[in-house]
Amino acid sequence: MKIMLIGSGGQLGRDLHAAVQASGHAVAPRTHAELDVRDAAALEAQVAAERPDAVVSTAAFHHVETCERQPEEAFATNAFGVLNLARACQRHGAALMHFSTDYVFDGEQRTPYREGDRPRPLNAYGMSKLAGEYLLAANCPRHFIVRTTGLYGVAGSAGKGGNFVETMLKKAAAGDAIRVVRDQVLTPTYTVDLAAKALELLATERFGLYHVTNEGQCSWFEFAAKIFALAGLHPDLTPVDSATFASSVHRPAFSVLAKDGLRAAGLAPMPPWEDGLARYLQSRSAARG
Ligand SMILES: NC(=O)c1ccc[n+]([C@@H]2O[C@H](COP(=O)([O-])OP(=O)(O)OC[C@H]3O[C@@H](n4cnc5c(N)ncnc54)[C@H](OP(=O)(O)O)[C@@H]3O)[C@@H](O)[C@H]2O)c1
Repeated sequence: MKIMLIGSGGQLGRDLHAAVQASGHAVAPRTHAELDVRDAAALEAQVAAERPDAVVSTAAFHHVETCERQPEEAFATNAFGVLNLARACQRHGAALMHFSTDYVFDGEQRTPYREGDRPRPLNAYGMSKLAGEYLLAANCPRHFIVRTTGLYGVAGSAGKGGNFVETMLKKAAAGDAIRVVRDQVLTPTYTVDLAAKALELLATERFGLYHVTNEGQCSWFEFAAKIFALAGLHPDLTPVDSATFASSVHRPAFSVLAKDGLRAAGLAPMPPWEDGLARYLQSRSAARG
């Protein structure tokens, strides 16, 4: 299979690239600088030239505060960019895998959200991603929409200025007092695990909407506490409520996703989030010698 990988320079993109190469499939990577999904003509020309069996796109405009201030920009990439991808794939016979988010939900449930649960985004980022899901589903039947949560990977997300694990480790190294919210619950997800599961899913050709995350759940505070426990650090860490931080953006208080789709497709669950975190910390230590 030949896979065209769009957004290949991002944190998930880098791990997808490595996973595709390791699986023996051919890969045609495109960084943001090489291909912008907002440019329908360039997308069309490059998909036509590469003739991939599948396009996998991680492209997103996902700095949540910026999306709130600039919803046109958020929609340009997360909705109309996805429409461009869907049309190009449909025209050239390629399947399309696209990544979406827990932020399509309002977070009012206290049990994991299933694929069929009603979305109700609270902010512009979530709305733009949900619009992208709809535009994709309506324009490219051979699609996978993969909703995920709380990503961290060795590449870090440039759009978010790194990742949560690195932010916590930097604060601890600087001796900062660290306050982390305890009233937002998620499943931290390691991009190496997500990349591997996404490729397994792609191979099934069971198109549709899937929730794909590591197993388990925790608050951001519990996530931070686990990072420090595994790293053997003892910083000044305090749990706080979200109201402590002034923000113009509403975020879902509960973002845990049920993986009914993966189960129905016969795919094994991903490892627990604590296990992913331990492997992430080992691989970053190994990379730094
Ligand atoms: N990060 C999370 O916690 C999280 C949670 C749930 C869902 N997701 C979803 O998971 C996917 C991957 O996220 P990630 O954390 O790997 O993000 P990331 O590191 O920011 O990667 C996204 C990549 O897309 C590129 N990109 C941005 N706009 C583009 C455009 N218009 N055309 C082409 N490429 C573009 C970015 O390039 P630049 O950096 O140069 O802009 C970056 O290389 C996204 O769809 C995101 O919405 C992420």
